[in-house]
Amino acid sequence: MGQSLVILNSANIMDEFDKRGANYSDRPVLQMGGELVGYNNTLALLRYGPRFRFYRKHFSRFVGPNKPIQSLHPLVEQETRKFLRRTLENCSRLNGNLRKMAGGIILQLTYGYKVQDGHDKFIELIEQNNDNFSLASMPGAFLVDVFPWMKYLPEWIPGAGFLKIAREWRKTTEESADAPYAYTKTQMAAGTAPSSLISTGLEESEDHSPEYLRDLKWTAASMYSGGADTTVSAEYAFFLAMILFPEVQKKAQAEIDAVVGNDRLPTLADMPHLPYVNALVTEVLRWNSVGPLGVPHTAVEDGYINGYFIPKGAIIIANLWSMLHDPEIYPEPFNFDPERHLGPNPQRDVRKICFGFGRRICPGMHLADASVYSCVAMSLAVFSIEKALDSDGVPITPVHENTNGLISFPKPFECAIKPRSEKAYSLIIES
Ligand code: HEM
Repeated sequence: MGQSLVILNSANIMDEFDKRGANYSDRPVLQMGGELVGYNNTLALLRYGPRFRFYRKHFSRFVGPNKPIQSLHPLVEQETRKFLRRTLENCSRLNGNLRKMAGGIILQLTYGYKVQDGHDKFIELIEQNNDNFSLASMPGAFLVDVFPWMKYLPEWIPGAGFLKIAREWRKTTEESADAPYAYTKTQMAAGTAPSSLISTGLEESEDHSPEYLRDLKWTAASMYSGGADTTVSAEYAFFLAMILFPEVQKKAQAEIDAVVGNDRLPTLADMPHLPYVNALVTEVLRWNSVGPLGVPHTAVEDGYINGYFIPKGAIIIANLWSMLHDPEIYPEPFNFDPERHLGPNPQRDVRKICFGFGRRICPGMHLADASVYSCVAMSLAVFSIEKALDSDGVPITPVHENTNGLISFPKPFECAIKPRSEKAYSLIIES
């Protein structure tokens, strides 16, 4: 339909786009998910410009490298310990427990809100919103993305049913940004609000213009929408890999036992001393593509990359899955092998691929790293992660298959998660 589409299948070419990031960091306009359902207020879909810079500045202040991320270590560790207890109680809710952990970290950081055990109103609301967005932004799912004029049709016309769906989903989008924001304001008025992105943003700025408040509110909402599902996908894949590659699990546990001992849980301060565990985390990010096609970029102006003409407005899709499974870079790419990231000649840096490129590179990558590492190290310290047994006592071998979508998850699988020892059991209970 006259739209140029550039698909990057090579990490070297992606580096060239990265170097000219300013010209390749706009986003295409998504009609259904963005304009109609209202996700165009979140950072991932925001056009390149001053609002984009406002959001990124706040991300960098709260989840950026060094000081900001280090100050979040206690929160990440506390939510991981809760995850261990919930998983000890019920490992069949592994996915739900991971969601509580990721949501618990982000909601406390952004709104000072502590997630409840059992049902949690904000987690449910925001998850519903994320599911709506996934459906709304699926390529080819809604014709209005091909024929934007369709958004001007009256709702009652046959074929315009998507407008009613969009209206309903938009309510959830707005509520999922408004409700936790209102919660923080109420806590602040009562003098009981802990420090958070919202409370700091309201207290420290003299600017309380409608634009400032809107952008602050949507920056917070962007953190959940960008950070919860992605982290959960990586952590869920870790559990799958441990079932399928038990020798890797044993090796990582041996390292933790030797370095940390079994009198305490590993912490984020142990990270530099656990090279194999770190390599395992890196391999999780490679083996399971959280965002197989990244998020599309667009070109701001005409330009050339390696002699190819890239016209203004071209949509650029980075095929991250293919780069992370390129046998030239990662031999036997479907094998889960942390060793490939160790030694004097490690294979190519996974983090320079899996988090995207240019000025749009994932702003939550440091929180993602800390969260996934914490989940991996603490879980391996205390749990044995094994195949579940079927009704005849035969171990069930899961298959590594992923769901479709902007964010991709391993398809649901069964597993048995048990404390490694009496001592490990006490560590979970006491933590
Ligand atoms: C394992 C975990 C994660 C992976 C693999 C991941 C990956 C990505 C990728 C591939 C992109 C697209 C980059 C591009 O357009 O080139 C992205 C964008 C983004 N990520 Fe992450 N991410 C993860 C965790 C997080 C976390 C924890 C947060 C929030 C704290 C977050 C927030 C975002 C946001 C807001 C964007 C959009 C940025 C923009 O458009 O400027 N992500 N991420």
